[in-house]
Amino acid sequence: MKGPYSDKVMEHFSSPHNVGELDDADGVGEVGNPACGDIMKMYIKVEDDVIVDTRFKTFGCGAAIATSSMATDLIKGKSVEEALQVTNKAVAEALGGLPKQKLHCSVLAEEAIQAAIDDYLKKTTGKGLDLKQSSHDHHHDHEPEGDDE
Ligand code: FES
Repeated sequence: MKGPYSDKVMEHFSSPHNVGELDDADGVGEVGNPACGDIMKMYIKVEDDVIVDTRFKTFGCGAAIATSSMATDLIKGKSVEEALQVTNKAVAEALGGLPKQKLHCSVLAEEAIQAAIDDYLKKTTGKGLDLKQSSHDHHHDHEPEGDDE
């Protein structure tokens, strides 16, 4: 072992996938992490309800960059509905895990996906997600209280 981060995290941190912007994005979401002030912006391009392309820009820590990269990989090719099921846990697991004190960084990725989809839905249907009452309330369980694994 060479530190707290998995090889996958290091890989996505040093060569993140899908970095940048999409000029013709159908949805753009920007979220900030109140815990640290880091910011993530996510762009999605949607065709026939499928996310055909996505980019991100993250001003944040290494774990935030790695999780953004993995999150964009995970939602690309998925339907909007499926992408909404991508949780911060799924992103962290796909990266081979994150140190507990960095799990909050993966929440930023989940929220950025939701914010981008929310923007897309508002533009196309006039009605966005009810983000406040999302089914992902477990977000806030990741305070460092030493509960799960
Ligand atoms: Fe801010 Fe990781 S420390 S997102």
